Amino acid sequence: MDRAAVRAFMDRFMQMTSGAAVLGVLSVADRTGLFQKLAAQGPLTLEEVVARTGLQERYLREALACLAAAEILRYDADASTYELPDEHAACLADESSPYFLGGWTQVIRALLAAVPGVARAFREGGGVPYADFGPDMVEGIDRTNAPGLRILLTRRWLPAMPGVVERLEQGIRVADVGCGCGSAALTMAKAYPSSTVTGYDLDPTSIERARESAKREGLANLQFEQVDAEALPTEPGFDLITSLDVIHDLVNPSKVLRRIHAALRAGGTYLMVEPNAADSLEENLGREGALLYAMSTLHCLTVSLAHGGEGLGTAWGPKKAEQLCLEAGFQSFRRLEIENPFNAFYEIKL
Ligand SMILES: C[S@@+](CC[C@H](N)C(=O)[O-])C[C@H]1O[C@@H](n2cnc3c(N)ncnc32)[C@H](O)[C@@H]1O
Repeated sequence: MDRAAVRAFMDRFMQMTSGAAVLGVLSVADRTGLFQKLAAQGPLTLEEVVARTGLQERYLREALACLAAAEILRYDADASTYELPDEHAACLADESSPYFLGGWTQVIRALLAAVPGVARAFREGGGVPYADFGPDMVEGIDRTNAPGLRILLTRRWLPAMPGVVERLEQGIRVADVGCGCGSAALTMAKAYPSSTVTGYDLDPTSIERARESAKREGLANLQFEQVDAEALPTEPGFDLITSLDVIHDLVNPSKVLRRIHAALRAGGTYLMVEPNAADSLEENLGREGALLYAMSTLHCLTVSLAHGGEGLGTAWGPKKAEQLCLEAGFQSFRRLEIENPFNAFYEIKL
């Protein structure tokens, strides 16, 4: 046996183990609003953190030590102070920042909670339905996706498709399929007041949250409907249809794509946004691929198989996307040149 290889593997394994455990503490910090209280405060002693947060001293001492050891907080041993650097605060404390990553702590927690159900499905078949992941997953997905899309959807993604922004400004009918908590639909309705935007989702919790946000914003051109995408209304049709991070989760993606095809008006555009993966395992090897396949095993695949679905899984690339769209009847398929570590973007037309 190559002992150096064993040690190297042990080292890598323990890095993952440490990361997973620290993510648990990050999750507690996220839930208790600790990072918001530390942001832009400079170095603080434990006593000052206790005073600012009102949290329990003994727990804080341990958690701050963990976050300092993990280099999430900067620790000054001479002054015994903890500091959240601005760059880390952008990722952990500021929900409006496009760099915000706090939603992942919620998503990972929901994924781990699904382990017993997925293990059962491994043996017996079937899967864990979306509803069983609970509100943590719904909120976690929104907090993971929304910060980026709120800024990038109107600044980068829609403008990458010639003519689409002009039409949105003139006023068209837009559908966001699998809208989740409604951040994309809300962003479009706000940016293009002459257009009417409807978000469709199967999940009642998501639609409830989406409606609450729409009410808060008071937008007359925005509505949300709890509708299965397989039954997306086809009359009077839509000029722009978007699906953000949805197709890989569906029970029956082929059927939904045919329905989107039927609902798209002549001259209309379908923007499909999916995880940024390649088509073959060998191209997906590495950290990003590992995350996608983990998400797939513990969520995307299992929610589809729970209902006897196609079980597309999360990690597939442009070839599969094109094949699915052509089979659904679309004639035009183009990958958009948008640099993004998480997503791939496809402009699809009749
Ligand atoms: C990963 S989430 C993405 C949500 C949102 N688009 C975003 O970017 O945050 C996938 C969404 O698809 C929805 N969904 C899954 N199957 C659906 C179906 N058959 N009809 C409508 N929505 C569906 C889920 O409820 C969930 O909200």
